[in-house]
Amino acid sequence: MSAVRDVDVVVVGAGPAGLLVSHLLRRQGLDVVVLERRSRAHVEARVRAGLLENGTVEVLRKAGLAGRLDADALVHDGLELRVDGVAHRLPFRELTGQPVFVYGQQLVVRDLLAAADADGADVRFEAADVQLSGLTSPAPVVRASTPQGPVAFRCRAVAGCDGYHGVARRSVPEGVFRTFTREHPYSWFGALAHTPPVSEELVYTISERGFALLSMRSPSVSRVYLQVPRGTRPQDVSDERLWGELQQRLGEEAPLTPGPVLERVLVDLRSVVVEPMQHGRLLLAGDAAHIVPPSAAKGLNMAVEDAEALAEALVADLRDGEPEALETYSRRRLPGVWQAQAFSDATTTLFHTPAGPDPDAAALADRLRRAALQRVLDSPTAARDFAEHYVGLARR
Ligand code: APR
Ligand code: PHB
Repeated sequence: MSAVRDVDVVVVGAGPAGLLVSHLLRRQGLDVVVLERRSRAHVEARVRAGLLENGTVEVLRKAGLAGRLDADALVHDGLELRVDGVAHRLPFRELTGQPVFVYGQQLVVRDLLAAADADGADVRFEAADVQLSGLTSPAPVVRASTPQGPVAFRCRAVAGCDGYHGVARRSVPEGVFRTFTREHPYSWFGALAHTPPVSEELVYTISERGFALLSMRSPSVSRVYLQVPRGTRPQDVSDERLWGELQQRLGEEAPLTPGPVLERVLVDLRSVVVEPMQHGRLLLAGDAAHIVPPSAAKGLNMAVEDAEALAEALVADLRDGEPEALETYSRRRLPGVWQAQAFSDATTTLFHTPAGPDPDAAALADRLRRAALQRVLDSPTAARDFAEHYVGLARR
C-alpha cells in the first residue's frame, strides 16, 4: 500500500482543460497533482481541432501562455461559405470586431506542458485505474497505478477533466447527473495533409454530395474534413477518394493540390451536456462535461472557458472560504455551454446533407436547412448573428 499524500487539488486528465486548470491553480499557490491515463508522447501528438476564439486567446494571454501562439497563430477575419460551388464571404471581424485564431490544439497542449515543465508541475502520465472516493466528504481520496507504483492523494477537491470517456463523471452515483445526448446521423473523416491550403480563410462547403471543410495549420499544411456516413472507418477513405470528393464538393473554380496525408481520423458527431457540472467536491470541465459536434469548432474554446471558471471557483472555495463557490461554478457555466450547443447544433443542421432512412423526410430537411442558410447569405441581421456565435461573442 502506498502512503497517502495530501494535496489541495487532484486534476484528472492532461488535455487542454486539465493542464490549464493545473496551471491557473498553481499560479495561485495551490498544491496540484495531475493524473493522466496516456503517455506524454501520446498527449503531445494528438491532433484535434484548431480554431481559437479571441476570448480563448485572451484567457491564454492572461495566464502567460500565449507567447508562441501570438508569434505563430494565423489570424482570420472572415470565412467562406461555399454553397453548390458558389463562394460567399462572411466577414466576421467586420461584423463583430473580433478575429479568430488558427492554432492546433496540440500546440496549445505543447505550450501548456512547456509551462508545466518550467513550473515544476506534478503531472503523472500513464496513470492507470484512477479511482475517486469520498467526493461528498471534505477530503476526497484519489488512487491510481503509475509506472512508479501505486499512488494515493487526499485532496480538498477533484477537477474531472478526463474527457468524454473519462472516469470522473462515472464515479458519481446514478441519478445525480442528468445527461442530454444527441447522436447526429453522420461522421467526419478528417485528414492532415502536407499541401498548401486552398484559400487563406476556412472554407465551409455545402453541396448535394455532402459537407466538406477546408482548414489549415500553416501555409504548407492543410486540415480537411468530409461528411461521411456513420460507420465509415478511416481506412475506407483512400487518398484518391478524399481529394476527389473534396474537389467535387468544393467546385471546379478552386483547384486543390493533393498532397501526402500525414494523419487520418474519424469523428462521430454528437452533442452531450451533463447537468450540473459539479457533485460534492468534484467539478467537471471540458469534454468530461459536454461534447459539441465540431461544425463550429467550440470544443476547445469551451474547455478553456470552463478551466478558467473552475480555477476561479476552487480558489474562492479553498483560499477564500466562499461557501457557494462550487455550486456557483456549474450555474455560471451552463448558460454559455448551452449557447455553444445551440450554435453547434444549428451549424451541424445547416452544413450537412440530411441523412436518414426516409427520403421524403430527408428532402424536407434539406429544403429547410437551405432556407435557413439563405437567410445567413441574404440578411445582414442573420449574418451578424451567425458571426457573433462563430467568434464566441454570443456567449460572453
Ligand atoms: N484517467 C486519467 N486520465 C484520463 C482518463 C482516466 N480514466 N480518461 C481519459 N483521460 C485523459 C485523456 O487521455 C485525455 O488526455 O483525459 C484527457 C482529456 O483530454 P481531452 O479529451 O483533450 O479533453 P479536454 O481537456 O476537455 O479538451 C477538450 O478536446 O476532444 C477535444 O474537441 C475537444 O477540443 C476539445 C478538447
Ligand atoms: C480545424 O481546423 O480543425 C477546424 C476548424 C473549424 C471547425 C472545425 C475544425 O469548425
